[in-house]
Amino acid sequence: MINPVPKAELHLHIEGTLEPELALSLAARNGLALPYASADELRAAYEFADLRSFLNLYYRLMEVLRTEDDFADLADAYLERAAAQGVRHAEIFFDPQAHTGRGVPLEAVLGGLGRALTGAAGRHGVTTRLILCFLRDEPVSSALATFEAARPWFGTLITGVGLDSAEVGHPPAAFRAVYDLARDAGLHLVAHAGEEGPPEYVTEALDVLGVQRIDHGIRSMEDPALVARLVREQVPLTVCPLSNVRLRCVERLADHPLPAMLEAGLLVTVNSDDPSYFGGYAGDNFDAVRRELGLGEAELRRLAANSFRASFLPQEDKDAYL
Ligand code: HPA
Ligand code: ZN
Repeated sequence: MINPVPKAELHLHIEGTLEPELALSLAARNGLALPYASADELRAAYEFADLRSFLNLYYRLMEVLRTEDDFADLADAYLERAAAQGVRHAEIFFDPQAHTGRGVPLEAVLGGLGRALTGAAGRHGVTTRLILCFLRDEPVSSALATFEAARPWFGTLITGVGLDSAEVGHPPAAFRAVYDLARDAGLHLVAHAGEEGPPEYVTEALDVLGVQRIDHGIRSMEDPALVARLVREQVPLTVCPLSNVRLRCVERLADHPLPAMLEAGLLVTVNSDDPSYFGGYAGDNFDAVRRELGLGEAELRRLAANSFRASFLPQEDKDAYL
């Protein structure tokens, strides 16, 4: 990747950047046994039938993340790799319930992430935002408790909330109360919708949760009226091409709806989701869509410009990139 185009990464789960080598070294550091003898053996387990089968390994492996240093090392390693792929700004998701639920204090998670993110502009030339995601397959009461516990970091480290984990059977509307609180707290609002779930979940995320961006949203393409609305309102969709193939939302990259989404006039961006598990970081996703979908220079530049337009950067910072 020579001279990767400058871009913003808007759909990135920090836990999904845990590379096999780091997982094994953190396991050793924390005195934990993993059922994989080597990084290659671990990488060979990265074969997924759907979102659920991925999430099983994703939650399993993050058990090696225990201390503040673990979270700082994880995020710092991501930021270094992202910078090398042209990422200048990263809006990063984290899943607090996946850590507090196994006894890791929120202070360790946010202390470590905060340390890495605070130093990122100076160390890696990457500006950052942090978005707290609620697990939609956990009860709303757990989301509400997590939200309240995270209040001390609102506006400083945490600037938005999102919704992730197993989508089908967990429609967005259930989380209305916690999104209302997040709006009142001045946080940005996003949600995963239309990855495996139906287009109705996208509509619900917009109308009931009031989100400003949709994460994934590829199944919106099944509903022409929804596409027309997303175009009219220029709702950003943070699309993750390699993820969609690895989780079998799309059979082959050549079948991905990204060109049709661009053609329709949607404000689409290209992102990496869980790069350690899905075969590549932001620049790798750009390379893959150029190669497999035949996108030209103009379309790649448009995707890069969209990534800054769709970001939560202040307008003057966006203007510097556009
Ligand atoms: N979808 C939903 N939840 C997730 C994902 C995803 O692609 N990655 C990590 N949590
Ligand atoms: Zn995601």
